[in-house]
Amino acid sequence: MAVELLSGKVFILITGASKGIGREIAIKFSELLDKDSRLLLLARDENGLKETAGKIHNHVNVDYVSVDLSVAKADQLAGIINKYVNPGEYDRAVVVHNVGSVGDLSKFTIDMDDFDEWRKYYDLNVFSPAVLNSVFMKIFNDKVQAKKLVINITSLCGIEPFKSMGYYCTGKAGREMYFKVFAHEFPEVNVLNYSPGPVETDMLKTIAETAADNNLRTTMSNTRKERKQLTTDQTVDRLIGILKEQKYKSGDHVDYFDKI
Ligand SMILES: NC(=O)c1ccc[n+]([C@@H]2O[C@H](COP(=O)([O-])OP(=O)(O)OC[C@H]3O[C@@H](n4cnc5c(N)ncnc54)[C@H](OP(=O)(O)O)[C@@H]3O)[C@@H](O)[C@H]2O)c1
Repeated sequence: MAVELLSGKVFILITGASKGIGREIAIKFSELLDKDSRLLLLARDENGLKETAGKIHNHVNVDYVSVDLSVAKADQLAGIINKYVNPGEYDRAVVVHNVGSVGDLSKFTIDMDDFDEWRKYYDLNVFSPAVLNSVFMKIFNDKVQAKKLVINITSLCGIEPFKSMGYYCTGKAGREMYFKVFAHEFPEVNVLNYSPGPVETDMLKTIAETAADNNLRTTMSNTRKERKQLTTDQTVDRLIGILKEQKYKSGDHVDYFDKI
């Protein structure tokens, strides 16, 4: 399947690529890329990144760097990207802000009274994608020809409240709004907020096992027991279909189950 948004010589940066949805995005996108395109994969677990890199289609270049995105500053991120890419060489530049953590699900909102806990959660899930996005856009600036595509992996939780998911829901909402403002300010950049549905990964398992809200825990456990959750394969195929069809407006939130 040819996807115009991934055509030509493409550079793709994917965060949270050591497992789960990020790994699947790396693998499936690589199958669509032209020769000499390049992937750069970021996460903490070097072994996981190596495993992902080993599954990348071999006509594409792949590099990976172990980095804790909750603490990496702009200059460190710029150093990592500049080490692997010459921005003038590419027809397209893509960044997939996939990194995410679900946070402490044992607390309801009135017990979330620790500033440090809030900051830690927001550092990774809200501030780090915003800072990385800024760094990426400055590297692939107006002086280079690359057309830009930005994919933020969001969630239904960013637009609907779920009990005991205070950190996650507010984080996803803030992060998604950042990308909406960004899309509004920079209409030449294609921005997609993709909500992948319930997908069998470590994150879904954590929700099913640890959510303080009984109803949420039971619903998620039953979804997993009855195998009603999606596979990473299904959700990334849907993401590719959405990119191919191009029926969304830049900045839109598009869910796996949306009929567009
Ligand atoms: N699974 C679902 O049902 C679902 C539903 C809606 C939205 N999402 C979203 O989809 C995205 C991917 O989630 P997933 O389900 O694939 O989760 P996952 O399997 O837990 O993967 C999370 C990824 O983020 C990386 N990561 C976590 N903390 C990091 C840090 N401090 N620095 C760098 N990397 C870090 C992890 O790598 P390391 O541990 O190696 O660092 C891993 O590669 C997230 O944004 C999530 O919110 C998932």
